[in-house]
Amino acid sequence: MNIAVLGAQFGDEGKGKIVDLMTPHFSLVARYQGGHNAGHTVYVNGKKFVLHLIPSGILHDGVLCVIGNGVVVDPQALFKEIEELAQLGIDVGDRLLISEKAHLILPYHRELDVLSEARRGERKIGTTSRGIGPAYEDKIGRRGIRVCDLVDTQALADEVRENVSARNRIIKDSTLDWKPVYDQLLAFGARMRRWTGDVSLALDEARRNGRRILIEGAQGAMLDIDHGTYPFVTSSNATIGGACTGLGIPPKAIGGVLGVAKAYLTRVGEGPFPTELSGQMGDRLRETGQEYGASTGRPRRCGWYDAVAVRYAVRINGIDSIALTKLDVLDGLETIDICTEYKVGDRTITEFPSDINMQGPYTPVYESLPGWTAPTKGARDYNQLPPEARRYIARLEEVSGVPVGLISTGSDRAETIIRPGSIVSSWLS
Ligand code: GDP
Ligand code: IMO
Ligand code: MG
Repeated sequence: MNIAVLGAQFGDEGKGKIVDLMTPHFSLVARYQGGHNAGHTVYVNGKKFVLHLIPSGILHDGVLCVIGNGVVVDPQALFKEIEELAQLGIDVGDRLLISEKAHLILPYHRELDVLSEARRGERKIGTTSRGIGPAYEDKIGRRGIRVCDLVDTQALADEVRENVSARNRIIKDSTLDWKPVYDQLLAFGARMRRWTGDVSLALDEARRNGRRILIEGAQGAMLDIDHGTYPFVTSSNATIGGACTGLGIPPKAIGGVLGVAKAYLTRVGEGPFPTELSGQMGDRLRETGQEYGASTGRPRRCGWYDAVAVRYAVRINGIDSIALTKLDVLDGLETIDICTEYKVGDRTITEFPSDINMQGPYTPVYESLPGWTAPTKGARDYNQLPPEARRYIARLEEVSGVPVGLISTGSDRAETIIRPGSIVSSWLS
């Protein structure tokens, strides 16, 4: 059965760790959206790997890592990542397949991203400045350049000339020449060719041969272009529909959905965050959880678990089970709060609002649970967890409306509990 792993919050839930530890049960790992705005961290025996574009299954031999048509690929970032992996002893070799239909991020997309943020001023999104938004804008505007377009043709020359001249009109005093951009693109194309192909066809063939596919989301439900806290979102569908359109697979190819959620909540960049903690508790979570962006190093905003948001992620993605990460970060707290609903004036809000940016403030309603003193850090057995931690998890299951099948108690692969009898354990048997 093929399983999708995706973020149930604002990204950085620990998807990389979860995908890596599940990979031995699969033959292929496939990314379907986003680009190198993602930073997926995997620790193996104390060694740190941060994956941006390449799926988090790459550390396992014999696994084919797939980049779908829904991903936006910056060739320079791709080559850099391949080189960095080589330095860490991981040879990508022929274990990478990039969709010919994937759109490219070009150097001027990065400039346009920065410029657009500067223009927004106070209303900025807080993007990763990787050119993600402008590349998807070109894709939807039907002027994007795809991996399969990187051949010396008049059509490519015309497209690049037109795109560069449009960019020169937007960026003041800019006189970028299209020809060096064109030549660079041809060089990128030649270097990428060994890894490119028809992803939809390859995945179909894999399925027909009984090879299992692990689908890896980037970002998270609340950053989804349609379902997130628009406009403070990324420019792709991080939610489950993106997996079908971004890989060219039918919905029935996806047998299960695992939502990854932190035992608290973080967000990087601007936008609404009702349970954000600005004082000492926020700092405590940031320092203990080492909440600094894996891609940009920016400090992440920290707050309590928001069950309104997770319930929403469960509904729109059809999440079967939650992988609850970073439980150990809560070790030693006297009390832990869970937001179960919001209030606006006298009104109680139980469903995640569409207009969360406009109306408000949405004030969180908290339930306080006792914390625990014995450490959960590194626990590998559910019964090893202090009773208060088990109670916290049980309450999260009730208010989120979904069982927790996997609990992560540290950043290493091994620091994980897979609950016996859970759906996650059946997926991995
Ligand atoms: P992703 O983008 O969803 O893959 O998550 P990131 O890699 O951006 O951020 C998650 C961070 O938490 C990484 O530094 C992980 O190494 C770390 N991490 C993952 N699971 C755990 C856990 O259970 N406990 C602790 N302490 N750290 C974790
Ligand atoms: P992973 O896959 C957390 C956020 C940015 C910004 C918004 C838009 O590691 O979970 P963009 O550059 O995509 O146009 O930025 O989305 N963002 C992420 N936040 N984790 C990510 O990826 C993110 N990718 C983008 O901070 O608020
Ligand atoms: Mg991340």
